[in-house]
Amino acid sequence: MTKDETGPLRLDEAGARQLDAADPGHRHLFHVPPAEGGRHPEVAYLAGNSLGLQPRATRDELLADLDDWRRLGVEGHLEAGRPWLPYHELLTAPAARLVGALPAETVVMNSLTVNLHLLMVSFYRPAGERTRIVIEDSAFPSDSYAVRSQARFHGLDPDATVVRLKPRSGEDTLRTQDVLDFLAAEGHTVALLLLGGVNYLTGELMDIAGITAAGRAAGAVVGWDLAHAVGNVPLTLHDWDVDFAAWCSYKYLNSGPGALAGVFVHERHLGDPALPRFEGWWSTEAATRFEMTPVSRPPATVEAWQISNPPIFAMGPVRTSLELFDSVGMPALRQRSLRLTGYLERLLDEVTAGRPLTVVTPRDPARRGCQLSVRIGAGSANELTKRLRHEHGVIADAREPDIVRFAPVPLYSTYHDCWRVADALAATVEVSA
Ligand SMILES: Cc1ncc(COP(=O)(O)O)c(C=O)c1O
Repeated sequence: MTKDETGPLRLDEAGARQLDAADPGHRHLFHVPPAEGGRHPEVAYLAGNSLGLQPRATRDELLADLDDWRRLGVEGHLEAGRPWLPYHELLTAPAARLVGALPAETVVMNSLTVNLHLLMVSFYRPAGERTRIVIEDSAFPSDSYAVRSQARFHGLDPDATVVRLKPRSGEDTLRTQDVLDFLAAEGHTVALLLLGGVNYLTGELMDIAGITAAGRAAGAVVGWDLAHAVGNVPLTLHDWDVDFAAWCSYKYLNSGPGALAGVFVHERHLGDPALPRFEGWWSTEAATRFEMTPVSRPPATVEAWQISNPPIFAMGPVRTSLELFDSVGMPALRQRSLRLTGYLERLLDEVTAGRPLTVVTPRDPARRGCQLSVRIGAGSANELTKRLRHEHGVIADAREPDIVRFAPVPLYSTYHDCWRVADALAATVEVSA
């Protein structure tokens, strides 16, 4: 890619450098891995939708918590720099701000699929003809396995219970209208609607507010898997009236592999004694927890869904990351995300023309976050990402058989990273004969 583009946006390498100088982001706050291939010292990291990069602050913050344990032993529960007993509360307010929730509605705990199960214990209550769980056909497999196992847990046939909404024939992404039409026709059979806020494969951002309203109006409970939405797009879960949501923290939240996840339960469900929940000693109110009584006294907050005492060293990186999001702010990140992803899209328009490559993510910026997914018409997605990495130092991620995902993450990705993607694709994928 060397030629200049018409219009104000220059699509050559020097143009990318200029854009970076004018719109630098926060890359300096992150460790960017060295490249193993290509002519640039650092990788062009476009896989933050899979695993985010390590913030520079994380290591020292984690070491400070570790030192408290070395110094204090059990006394750290009350005397650590950040005492361990109430440690999880440090994460609550910034997590709530990130997802547009009240602090009482938000807690960081466990991992994503575990949380989905714990939430379904409360919110999937099949009864009468209302037994079905609706997901998208391209739901992340873990969600599919989770809902199918929930159906079995209730003695139901998963094939009959789980409805998989498919895009129209010849289309790659689900239309909101199709979800609404399904609910209008069959909503009376739906116990739970559980969709991905941003689809992991296509990068499509769903109309969370509209679908939630329609699902609830149809009498269903509406939950969202926000793994690919949190830290990627602005969320206002409380105002959208979402019943529940869960997300992980290792993608856009940069909290490390398998990091602790987050949960939202809408205020209207808090303190409801009719809701079944699984309990442990962290489900009871903090004030009387150490009275060691046999019967719990759950608080009227989402903390009633906690079970075990939280892992301090796993919470540290989430806390560090949430503080970073708080200091930069989601509105500013979204604006930069729109600029970066729009730029990558322009580059991909050039490079896909004449090559067996198709962007399947919606073109409307309001219907996507930062990820652009490319379908490859020939060869394997895994092979292509390997070549991008080893020959060009570009880290993307493959979803077999034919999708390669590129996510310019507004915190640390650069315009030059985007340029490198297009340059590497142009060099790696041959023009169709
Ligand atoms: C949309 C979605 N749901 C669920 C999961 C599974 O997450 P976990 O292994 O943290 O339970 C992932 C993992 O990438 C995901 O992308």
